[in-house]
Amino acid sequence: MSAPATEREKTGVFSPGRARILVRTFRRDRWWLSPLLTAVGLSAFVIYATIRSFVRTAYWVEDYHYLTPFYSPCLSESCVPGSSHFGTPFPELPMIIPLGFVVLPFLLGFRLTCYYYRKAYYRSFWFSPPACAVAEPHAKYSGETKLPLIIQNAHRYFFYAAVIVSLINTYDALTAFHAKGGGFGFGLGNVILIGNVVLLWVYTISCHSCRHVTGGRLKHFSAHPVRYRIWTQVSKLNARHMQFAWITLGTLVLTDFYIMLVSSGTISDLRFIG
Ligand code: FES
Repeated sequence: MSAPATEREKTGVFSPGRARILVRTFRRDRWWLSPLLTAVGLSAFVIYATIRSFVRTAYWVEDYHYLTPFYSPCLSESCVPGSSHFGTPFPELPMIIPLGFVVLPFLLGFRLTCYYYRKAYYRSFWFSPPACAVAEPHAKYSGETKLPLIIQNAHRYFFYAAVIVSLINTYDALTAFHAKGGGFGFGLGNVILIGNVVLLWVYTISCHSCRHVTGGRLKHFSAHPVRYRIWTQVSKLNARHMQFAWITLGTLVLTDFYIMLVSSGTISDLRFIG
């Protein structure tokens, strides 16, 4: 996979100042397993989310007001009646445009520029490098200093957008406490929606940019005890950011899949009240 050393002289691990090691790695363990599993997991999510975002079916449960996060907020006249919690300022949309088009670019931007996901897909898809102590196949390295990767530096702005999206998802989850025919209702769908939104908040708050927002640019923590306490809590979550990144991919799929099954009539929602 890597270019022969002779073609790559003066670049990367074959630079003049580096030890002249001609094999790609001395590692004998299964270093390829982690990037492989990451590639499979991320690909599965992207395929599922792309298909579901475009199909325009089974995304709203009228009886209980369940709306899948992939279609929230639904702001066009193409949305099924009742699913537009914030009105329909946009006209009918052609099938080529997903109904969640307003927030999808921001959600995609937030996840793609996430510090954890960057590590994951740089290793798994670009082999840059595929693992510690394994030479990358690329002859040149410019880091995140040029287009398109310089956009990674906009992560903090995607973080602010993600906070707004999480607020919208929270609103969706709260309005879903709805009984058939009106009034308060509570079912398994509510447990899934609330669980998903709580974990989305945890993932968002555990973001490295949030850690900087809460505790960055301070000269003395002692002069800012409140920010210090918040930063301490955010830092604890931040240590598990990778886990939350994967867990929320799972809860997003679970939430959408459950709503799809209920909306299509494949299963009935398990109701506790209403
Ligand atoms: Fe992962 Fe910000 S969301 S670092």
